[in-house]
Amino acid sequence: MHPLDIQFNDTDKAKYLQLAQVIRNAIIKGDLVAGTKLSSARVMAQAYQLNRHTIMNALQLLVAEGWLVSFQRSGYCVTESLPIQSSVDAIGTPKLAPKPYQFSQQLETPQTMELNQYRFNFAGGLPDLTHFPYKEFKRAMSQVFNYLDVTKLHYGDISGVAELKLQIEGYLQKARNLKPADLLICNGSQEALFLIAKAFIGKGDFVASETLGYPPARKAFAACGAKLIDIKQDDEGLCVDDLKAQLEYYPIKLLYLTPLHQYPTTVTLSPTRRLQIYQLCYAHNVMIIEDDYDHEFHYRCQPLQPMAADDPAGIVIYLSTFSKIMFSAARIGYICAAPQVIAQLTAWKQLMNHKNDVLMQLAVAQWMKEGGFERHLKRMTKLYKQRYEAMDACLNSLQRQGYPLDYIKPDGGMAMWVNFNTSVDLLKSQMQEQGVYLQTEEEFYYHDAVRSLRPAMLKHVRLGFAGQSVEVMEQGLAIVRSHMYKNSQ
Ligand SMILES: Cc1ncc(COP(=O)(O)O)c(C=O)c1O
Repeated sequence: MHPLDIQFNDTDKAKYLQLAQVIRNAIIKGDLVAGTKLSSARVMAQAYQLNRHTIMNALQLLVAEGWLVSFQRSGYCVTESLPIQSSVDAIGTPKLAPKPYQFSQQLETPQTMELNQYRFNFAGGLPDLTHFPYKEFKRAMSQVFNYLDVTKLHYGDISGVAELKLQIEGYLQKARNLKPADLLICNGSQEALFLIAKAFIGKGDFVASETLGYPPARKAFAACGAKLIDIKQDDEGLCVDDLKAQLEYYPIKLLYLTPLHQYPTTVTLSPTRRLQIYQLCYAHNVMIIEDDYDHEFHYRCQPLQPMAADDPAGIVIYLSTFSKIMFSAARIGYICAAPQVIAQLTAWKQLMNHKNDVLMQLAVAQWMKEGGFERHLKRMTKLYKQRYEAMDACLNSLQRQGYPLDYIKPDGGMAMWVNFNTSVDLLKSQMQEQGVYLQTEEEFYYHDAVRSLRPAMLKHVRLGFAGQSVEVMEQGLAIVRSHMYKNSQ
């Protein structure tokens, strides 16, 4: 064997590991072919100026890994059965060209928002995390560690830790008139949506939602094989007549709704429409996914009870999240549904990730038990109500100054849906350059045909009011206003 070119320049790595790596690479590249006999440990020790133990450790490691075989008297040879031809040619170009990856489907690369990048952030569902009671939550977390039952840290409890389920059930009964038959804790509502899609959607099944909707939900349905049907909507939410017409035409399996605050238009679906939709869905064997993502933040009156609170046929799959009440990084959401549905979803969850983070679940349960959750909720509802009124006042004053804005003040939520009565086609990117984040109408359509409506017809902007102070909101709105109506006033 020719001496190998070895430089021991990695000071963090033991020399025998570096030597083993060089020999391994030489075998992979074909410099040491199958059957080659290696020089003796003594000769190698001399050639590389290494201790014999170092050489032996490297050789024994390669034997254990299967690259070398050792013979009692004749030393070490490269394993004969290695299916290696030289993977590079004489001038060092790899011979094995990479082949295209055979993904089941090509998803878009995710774009994540760098929040710090914007001085003015009107993202629709952004809670204000500067007001979260971190110290209080830290105490709850410490309590968990002080009294930890370590058996909980094993696998098991797929559907969530009992302590958290108990707290959520109590809260749902008290605050939402919901008595869940069964509950599954998920990694946020997004996992809930994906589990539901996995459990219900076969290739080509039809899933309906309003024309303007929550993109991550529709992407999850589509990724699981669904064909998406748009249902018309108006100022009061989903149009029941259009749902009826589409049900006559398509065997729709699931209907996705955000009844309390329609996403993105924020409209509250009236009790009459809820009942009509429920009856239609029951008659056509459609399951309703009720995504109640910001239930607590309702300011004009008590929020309407969820559709799931009056679901005699067990056709509503109710989901909600702690992402708005706490923060999205907690990754806690949950599903309430009929026991047979929860059983299936739990089976899918086990396949996907076994369970949620137990320590976080226990800490949230503890925080809820101590009353911290409800106190925080009260404070935040009060704060967001002030911001809701402030945004209303701001938009109202712009109207009075003659700017052609239209909006319907929602009953609650964390955002307003504002018609600027002029194209907002390029507004998002133009505003980003000025440090303002907002979302425009175009991104809430699913179908390309609708998405590519004439840009002049896209006039709405979703403006979140919860995540920043009134002063910052006012400054941000002033920038948007002066950009939109450059030539007016
Ligand atoms: C309609 C809707 N559903 C659900 C969520 C929450 O998602 P998650 O619980 O996965 O954080 C959001 C957050 O923006 C939302 O807008």
